[in-house]
Amino acid sequence: MVRAFAPGKCILFGEHAVVYGHPAVAVAIDSGVEVELTESDSWTIEGMSFEAHRHPHISHILNDVFGYDGVPLRMEISSGLFSAAGLGSSAALSNAMSAAVQRLTHPDDEIDSVQLARIGHAAEVKAQAGRASPTDTATSALGGCVVVSGDIVEGAEHVFDASLVTPEGERKWSICKVNLPPEIDAWLVLGFTGIGSPTGEMVAGVARLLERDPSKHADMEAIARITQAGLTALGAGNLEAVGMAMDACHVRLQSLEVSSPELDALVEAVRPHSLGAKLTGAGGGGCMVALTDEPQRVAEAIEVAGGTPLISRLGAEGVRILA
Ligand code: MEV
Repeated sequence: MVRAFAPGKCILFGEHAVVYGHPAVAVAIDSGVEVELTESDSWTIEGMSFEAHRHPHISHILNDVFGYDGVPLRMEISSGLFSAAGLGSSAALSNAMSAAVQRLTHPDDEIDSVQLARIGHAAEVKAQAGRASPTDTATSALGGCVVVSGDIVEGAEHVFDASLVTPEGERKWSICKVNLPPEIDAWLVLGFTGIGSPTGEMVAGVARLLERDPSKHADMEAIARITQAGLTALGAGNLEAVGMAMDACHVRLQSLEVSSPELDALVEAVRPHSLGAKLTGAGGGGCMVALTDEPQRVAEAIEVAGGTPLISRLGAEGVRILA
């Protein structure tokens, strides 16, 4: 039997802009996805018979990536993430599944988190019609705080590069890790609207908006500047400035038409007890995030406003084998 866990992620700055090569900053969160694989006499997933065509991504990991040719497996998946909520649940599932299969097929090898991030990115590209940054998969694989950017980011440790030909042209990203100051004394509180966030549709919607109204590129550039300022503030442990940058980022995401009345309502509800708040991930539905030193009060404010809260530290450990 092998068990593997991969965390979800929360984008602090730069969602959508990162698809166009601008920087994004994301942190791994405490909640994630756990996969348990047990040798068995028949192939099952979550108690049901496993049919490869219904789970093309899992069968791709088993067969094409790791060439699994062992006995049938019983596969159990448990998730502490809201699904389709912008928290990277598909990236976390991909990373946890790949780590577990890698351990079964190559028991003596260290888990290769860069390889796992690449496998997951390829899957996101397929799921998002050719437009996906490596942000979710890299953050879940590497853990901590990750910057994904078209340019090398000063003061960050370079880990690997990724590239992709999108419908709008070739994109290249450097994936770097940032050391958060150990004295950071704040929490993230995520608030789920209860509405699924269709990442592929939201990303395609932004592409259409930019084509129809090229002046919206100014929002992308503003997000890039805000992201840079937010990163500098994060590195210096200046949480008030991080919060201000989050607020400013939300306004630009509203202008890109990826917020929603439900997201805006949760963001407004938490403001009195937060350093900053914004939608996180693709938007449309999904989650918002607040940075706060009063996590319980923010969680209550989210509940009162009709959302579901999830409290996390900033920068959890990345994908790992549990047993
Ligand atoms: C989704 O978590 C973040 C987006 O920027 C899409 C991507 O980076 O692939 C909206």
